[in-house]
Amino acid sequence: MKICILAGDGIGPEIVAQAVKVLDKVGGKFGRTFEYSEALIGGAAIDATGSPLPEATVKLCKEADAVLLGAVGGPKWDTIDPAIRPEKGLLGIRKEMGLFANLRPAVLLPQLKDACYLRPDIVENGLDVMVVRELTGGIYFGEPRFEGEKDGERYGYNTMVYAEHEIRRIAKVAFEAARKRDGRVCSVDKANVLDVSRVWREVVIDEHKNYPDVELSHMYVDNAAMQLVRDPGQFDVMVTGNLFGDILSDAAAAITGSIGMLPSASLGSDGPGLYEPIHGSAPDIAGKDMANPLATILSISMMLRHSFDMTEEADCIDQAVEKTLEQGHRTGDIVEPGARSIGCKAMAQAVLDNI
Ligand code: IPM
Ligand code: MG
Repeated sequence: MKICILAGDGIGPEIVAQAVKVLDKVGGKFGRTFEYSEALIGGAAIDATGSPLPEATVKLCKEADAVLLGAVGGPKWDTIDPAIRPEKGLLGIRKEMGLFANLRPAVLLPQLKDACYLRPDIVENGLDVMVVRELTGGIYFGEPRFEGEKDGERYGYNTMVYAEHEIRRIAKVAFEAARKRDGRVCSVDKANVLDVSRVWREVVIDEHKNYPDVELSHMYVDNAAMQLVRDPGQFDVMVTGNLFGDILSDAAAAITGSIGMLPSASLGSDGPGLYEPIHGSAPDIAGKDMANPLATILSISMMLRHSFDMTEEADCIDQAVEKTLEQGHRTGDIVEPGARSIGCKAMAQAVLDNI
């Protein structure tokens, strides 16, 4: 299997380096070989080539069987021309590879229940939500868009736009995902206000006819944000557009107490998938061996499961991570106040020892 590594910026390189060690160890255990290529993205790519997404990167990613990404962005590039911001690299690779489906599972592991921000009685029954976020459309990519001046004042706009085929294919992904879980999909929109959301809802209802075994409900996005913190146990799969999914997946991640724990998979209809932790580049702790590598290690597990059908190998990683937490190892982001935390490398080493 060929894997293209996009380490990116901030803590990206350090977490990716640890995750690759885990992949190699699992490969050794199960007799699999992984070959790696490396390419530039984000700020690192801007510094080296002037572009956040060089053509060579797109080519290597498309030739690979899967892509592993660290994170992009940082204060160094905050004042750069918006057309070449590091984030454009990430949006660009998603679009170029046709990765329209972003799976973001937010799970509260029993070992981390004390890190959860919600009251124990609220999360008594656990927390296991899969956010299915549309990733290559909506307001992130809609035209027309504008940033500038009009009538003597600053002025800007973006367009939230969805075509039926874009909604239908992400709805399918959500219904299929629900079939492998608890069989429930909640579609999140703003159909009481937005025309685009009314189209979204109609198409989701129509596609649901092909999945009569799955339960479908609808929720306005403001209510969904509230329900996520009020009673997250009510959700199984949440499917939504690009912007709402960006926001709700951070909320879902944060209530587990550990944005440093959550992986993601970005998939297209065919071709390689891209796997990345949902947290950002954390420039404040970059290079200090303080980052939590577990979200990236768990992203490797998602890669093995979704791109390579290597279920046993993926289970092995998940179990090693859980055992590591059971043994009490904690990085700074998930440690209880006053308790001792370990660094990025030591955390990864503990996982390696448990494989
Ligand atoms: C995410 C991030 C990205 C997004 C940024 C870095 C462009 O927040 O993956 O959720 O908005 O999609
Ligand atoms: Mg985000």
